[in-house]
Amino acid sequence: MSQFGPDYIRAIAPYQAGKPISEVAREFGLVEADIVKLASNENPFGMPESARRAMLAAAAELGRYPDANGFDLKAALAARYDVPADWITLGNGSNDILEIAAHAFVQKGQSVVYSQYAFAIYALAAQGVGARGIAAPAKEYGHDLDAMAAAIEPDTKLVYIANPNNPTGTFIPAAEIEAFLGKVPAHVVVVLDEAYNEYLEQKDQFESTQWVRRFPNLIVSRTFSKAYGLAGLRVGFAIAQPALTDLMNRVRQPFNVNALAQAAAIAALNDKAFLQKGFDNNRAGYAQLVAAFEELGLDYLPSYGNFVLVKVGEDEGAGARVNIALLKQGVIVRPVGAYGLPRWLRISIGLPEENARFVEALQRALA
Ligand SMILES: Cc1ncc(COP(=O)(O)O)c(C=O)c1O
Repeated sequence: MSQFGPDYIRAIAPYQAGKPISEVAREFGLVEADIVKLASNENPFGMPESARRAMLAAAAELGRYPDANGFDLKAALAARYDVPADWITLGNGSNDILEIAAHAFVQKGQSVVYSQYAFAIYALAAQGVGARGIAAPAKEYGHDLDAMAAAIEPDTKLVYIANPNNPTGTFIPAAEIEAFLGKVPAHVVVVLDEAYNEYLEQKDQFESTQWVRRFPNLIVSRTFSKAYGLAGLRVGFAIAQPALTDLMNRVRQPFNVNALAQAAAIAALNDKAFLQKGFDNNRAGYAQLVAAFEELGLDYLPSYGNFVLVKVGEDEGAGARVNIALLKQGVIVRPVGAYGLPRWLRISIGLPEENARFVEALQRALA
């Protein structure tokens, strides 16, 4: 055990990211071009052409620091979501927002509440500031907001809610979140993480970005990594009232969103056709995967995101075993044993041919 650093930092188990294609190619002796990666909830169309053009134009000025206040991007977001620009905090991905919130609102020894099976970064962000993470028990793999409200202790300063949640794909309807916000103590900050919001059907969408007007303790977090196809550029944002936004701005790095990311995000935000294409592909791909799971007699969780959780066996080794069998066939998905779900695998929805490659490989892996 290292002698360096505080004990709460030494206790952190590093985040397990999806395996990069190059690493799988090396490890399994495969050709990169033959590998299908459905492991990181990325956009299978890659980045929008509009964003690529904007990014290349911005590259001419890379000798200069980016705009530390992200004026143009905040203006575009303010117009889109009908909030004042100074209610917006930009992040180096929304992951940055989640961590900034922990730094801004929680001190060592206090507590942070999230759900069992919720996005892994919540526990890590809490641990990173020496806080105590409280995982409220899930209900049918999703957030149980009553259990979360009950889990709030006198020293709780922050609550994370993922809607939809990763890796389970579960979704909480507007009325339930609204009721929860109504009963959370006013001094507890709630981060509503909506990284997959753009994949929701119209009937499930709600105006969470307007709720910040009514709830002074609410932060809505969104990202350009998923539906907007900019995962590699790292840009996300938060909407909250100035009292919260001001504190988040004090702890963020001054230049946390780089110039290429700012330019690309503005273009992507205005690219409605790209968003629609990704939405349609996601719906069709979800139907394709779910049909295959049903044919194979596999349980899966109904998902509201761009991924699906599927149960690949009844024993505790099932997820790891099937994952290896898939990797050998050049298909990368995400094992979720670290989430306490060792019988399940998370599959990001890809292009039709990628989904088909996965299904074939899965059939062989299970045979
Ligand atoms: C629920 C959830 N929130 C936040 C993120 C962070 O994504 P990013 O930092 O790329 O915005 C992810 C990424 O997988 C996620 O699943």
